[in-house]
Amino acid sequence: AFVVTENCIKCKYTDCVDVCPVDCFHEGPNFLVIDPDECIDCTLCEPECPAEAIFSEDDLPDAQMKFVDINAELSQTWPIISERKDPLPDAEEWDGKSGKTEMLER
Ligand code: SF4
Ligand code: F3S
Repeated sequence: AFVVTENCIKCKYTDCVDVCPVDCFHEGPNFLVIDPDECIDCTLCEPECPAEAIFSEDDLPDAQMKFVDINAELSQTWPIISERKDPLPDAEEWDGKSGKTEMLER
């Protein structure tokens, strides 16, 4: 499956959701996740993310490994999002900042 990682937090550009053929993105307050049981590995979302936050599980940087479990867990309770919307207001400011995992709102 593909995995949404830390740099989505506080940005949430949502370009990714428009291209997913199986609607497997789920939305939380300041982050999106992919349901690993629904993702068909089509790869379409990865290049769409302006924050480069989406990776194949097979290419995940070591520091982002924890996001495998975070995507699997939160996709069970968060609602599906299938249409793009405005990014979070300070998205540009937060894009590329480190240490955002602690700011993930559930
Ligand atoms: Fe959806 Fe394809 Fe991305 Fe999986 S890889 S989340 S199926 S767009
Ligand atoms: Fe997040 Fe990138 Fe999608 S910032 S909402 S994974 S386009």
